[in-house]
Amino acid sequence: SPTCKLSRKKNSNQSELCTVGTGWVRSVRAQKANVFLHVNDGSSLQSLQVVASSELSDPLLTFGSAVEVTGILKKSPHTKQPVELDAKQINVVGECNPVDFPFKIKERHGLEYIRQFPHLRCRTNAFSSLLRLRSEATAAIHSYFKDNGFVEINTPIITSNDCEGAGELFQVEPSGPDYAEGENFFSVPAYLTVSGQLHLEVMSGAFSKVYTFGPTFRAENSQSRRHLAEFYMVEAEISFTQSLEDLTKVMEDMFRFATEHVLAHCVEDVDLFHKHVTPGHRWGCDLKTEHEKYLVKHCGNIPVFVTDYPYDLKPFYARDNQNHPERTAAAVDLLVPGVGELCGGSLREERLNLLSARAGLNDVYSWYLDLRRFGSVPHGGFGLGFERYLQCILGVDNIKDVVPFPRFSHSCLL
Ligand code: 4AD
Ligand code: MG
Repeated sequence: SPTCKLSRKKNSNQSELCTVGTGWVRSVRAQKANVFLHVNDGSSLQSLQVVASSELSDPLLTFGSAVEVTGILKKSPHTKQPVELDAKQINVVGECNPVDFPFKIKERHGLEYIRQFPHLRCRTNAFSSLLRLRSEATAAIHSYFKDNGFVEINTPIITSNDCEGAGELFQVEPSGPDYAEGENFFSVPAYLTVSGQLHLEVMSGAFSKVYTFGPTFRAENSQSRRHLAEFYMVEAEISFTQSLEDLTKVMEDMFRFATEHVLAHCVEDVDLFHKHVTPGHRWGCDLKTEHEKYLVKHCGNIPVFVTDYPYDLKPFYARDNQNHPERTAAAVDLLVPGVGELCGGSLREERLNLLSARAGLNDVYSWYLDLRRFGSVPHGGFGLGFERYLQCILGVDNIKDVVPFPRFSHSCLL
């Protein structure tokens, strides 16, 4: 049953087999003869009910304190929980002063309030549910790719390329007594990665189907509710792909698989969100977001693929559709209600002559052009913003509330 993880031991007089439950107190209720506690260890939303005689009561047993309870596990007379722990001994492992603790018993704190306490917000129901969901969704995405023959690649965090060419890079420099300020450790300018795509393209030229799921970084100077400076991206790259339909099929399959898995495995946590968290159908206000909003609404508030963007709007790697005079690129974005752009993808330009005609590529990306010289194949891929995915399925308005420790401009707490 979903309660504290319990261990068994013989109690001091060795006569009874006792159960030990550990966790943090979520509620305390004293009656004449008994005191009732709810103890939660983060394994689920459900807390373990502890029943103790009032002699075991202790003023240090407060909301938020850490406890170890030893007792006999019994069938509960209440329908809400299957079992309860009849306490023989309660040990307050860590006190918690209720006056100073920022969360108060029986109060429902909003996501915006708890965001002020990044080191403590995992103690709230809403945020602990969120992080369990996030963990489950991560596992589901990995299993989707494993089940479908993709090889996982750990693409580098430090890189010398700017995949998206948008110039939103964090530069990496050494620090410490051995280094002068601004010293160039790598002999070339090095950055935190904005996308693992180019490295995945290298690997798709040997393994056909590859993916990566890791942190990416963008120095976006925006305070929007859908941008972070550090976010997780799920990226896939598939060789011998001829059409955007092949790509959108994988995007859709992965989305469905992960979402069905989360809905089936995290029923209580999802319910909590759908009951208590305001759905995020408010939109950002820049023009691009407004366009996305219009399109999603126009199509009946469902996920929408937008394909074949103007060529000049897309990065150097996007494949030219060669449909003059419009000149479009074989690129696709997936827009979803409440969030807007969730995934960006494209077929990649695999033709050496077309790629090398793009300005500047010969100097900086000669290795990338080599991929087109040695066994080049039609290929394509996409990247899904994992935090935006969580916003979308849970209806969370602000991206800062779906990540354990948000990083954004003017904020790097902890
Ligand atoms: O559209 P983007 O920039 O595409 C790429 O980086 C491609 N190289 C991916 C690929 O084809 N392998 O980013 C992909 C997704 C966006 O659709 C968005 O969901 C998310 O990453 N994203 C962000 N999420 C949070 N904060 C930010 N600052 C984000 N920037 C992009
Ligand atoms: Mg994009």
